[in-house]
Amino acid sequence: APSVQPSSSPLRTSEGDEKYANVKWEELGFSLIPTDCMYVAKCRQGESFTEGKIVPYGDISISPCCPILNYGQGLFEGLKAYRTEDDRILIFRPHENAVRMQDGAERLCMAPPSVEFFVEAVKQTVLANKKWVPPPGKGALYIRPLLIGSGAILGVAPAPEYTFLIYASPVGDYHKASSGLNLKIDHKSHRAHSGGTGGVKSCTNYSPVVKSLVEAKSSGFSDVLFLDAATGRNIEEASACNIFIVKGNIVSTPPTSGTILPGITRKSISELARDIGYQVQERDVSVDELLEADEVFCTGTAVVVKAVETVTFHDKKVKYRTGEEALSKKLHSMLTSIQTGLVEDTKGWMV
Ligand code: COI
Repeated sequence: APSVQPSSSPLRTSEGDEKYANVKWEELGFSLIPTDCMYVAKCRQGESFTEGKIVPYGDISISPCCPILNYGQGLFEGLKAYRTEDDRILIFRPHENAVRMQDGAERLCMAPPSVEFFVEAVKQTVLANKKWVPPPGKGALYIRPLLIGSGAILGVAPAPEYTFLIYASPVGDYHKASSGLNLKIDHKSHRAHSGGTGGVKSCTNYSPVVKSLVEAKSSGFSDVLFLDAATGRNIEEASACNIFIVKGNIVSTPPTSGTILPGITRKSISELARDIGYQVQERDVSVDELLEADEVFCTGTAVVVKAVETVTFHDKKVKYRTGEEALSKKLHSMLTSIQTGLVEDTKGWMV
């Protein structure tokens, strides 16, 4: 197996200790609380990542002429580690993130870390920051792997060098204050198009949604929902999460045919819904069907499973089932019970 070298001494400073003492574990939201350490590995184009190291968390030095800064040649991942009641630390499906990063690297002509290298690096990052994994039930350690084109090159071409970096932050709810999301459908701009990069976790998928998101938030909405660029008739995903609709016993979500991010929570929730007898369909879902659904919810690593309370399309606003009766409530509980070790992991999802 490729080697990952942890630092021999714990990287702790008195500043770090004070920061740790000030964390309000009861009030975690989704904002950066820098931890002690991060992981960094580099490799040349055409070679493989063979070693990396744990270093103090902090700024990185990079050429102004590198493709990540100039052309957006970069991928990121998001995954979480949880502390169990008996003080073990469990990481949710890291191999899936590793495979997704490989798919993205292929799309963006980047050197990918192997699956084993990725998972080992994630483990090292979590271990080096283990005190930052929140107490049971208070949240999770969000792990953010980055793969970026970091070597200098002026023209449009693959970078001559890549950096694989992982940092982490304790987090709580992504949408902290709300019991259900109020989504606004964007009928003007699109998140992805056929043949583009919507199906991989490219950094370039996220900055284009910010304008629409900011506008929606300034009108009191929690998030924006994008439609397909080809017809404008089908729903795709929100700014940072996948979407599902429920009608009777059928749970539907748009298919991962190139414009939808293949979410690991999306995949896990589909499996859990099938386990309890729902029929799960991955297919085009029209706006009309969305507006007639019994229930709508979003899934993602950051979002977990979040009920949608309302959807607004032009001047039409539709309200959905939420709360204790909602399927999303049940699925959220099933998923988080596995993630936090409250129930036996019969799926083999936890590392
Ligand atoms: C995640 O859920 O990990 C995401 O990638 C969402 C992030 C953009 C906040």
